[in-house]
Amino acid sequence: MTGSDPTHEDEESGRRAADRAVAVGWAWLALCACGGLALEVALGLKLGWLLDDEGVRTMARLAHAHGVGLALVVLAFGATAAPRLGARTAATSMMLIAGAVLVPIGFALGAIGHGEVDPGPGVWLVPPGALLVIGALVRTSIAAIGYARRNRNL
Ligand code: HEM
Repeated sequence: MTGSDPTHEDEESGRRAADRAVAVGWAWLALCACGGLALEVALGLKLGWLLDDEGVRTMARLAHAHGVGLALVVLAFGATAAPRLGARTAATSMMLIAGAVLVPIGFALGAIGHGEVDPGPGVWLVPPGALLVIGALVRTSIAAIGYARRNRNL
């Protein structure tokens, strides 16, 4: 074993963090898919607050689409990250999950108090959320490349 090899504790903490990410990912996917169902119902009933307000409709669609999409990313992370990130799985998972929640919530809140062109102030949650997601993706991809190279697969 070299100094850079993960210890048993590292592997165990990585596995537990990945397990939590899978649980959060499925729950967030279910919740955001329900948001899609709510949109479907509102469109079907031709509710004016959604149909007649392009700003609200755009922000609601962005919230739903980013919520389901990022939930799938959290699930992919939970399924693949632990052996690659080891002890860094927990911190990276927290970054990713925080971003995956902040981005769609920011879009949803952006529907409140929007102007002719600009979204409402809640949309300011989106940039920090996006930075957290991108930071987590960069950390995970660097770890995944290192893992593949150590195993002589890259
Ligand atoms: C994994 C599950 C899902 C994914 C990946 C997903 C993805 C997306 C995406 C990318 C859009 C934006 C499409 C566009 O603007 O061109 C969208 C819109 C929409 N989705 Fe989903 N969706 C999912 C589940 C659902 C469910 C379960 C429902 C309802 C039963 C739903 C209802 C809608 C509706 C009504 C829109 C359009 C909203 C509008 O035009 O204002 N989605 N979805």
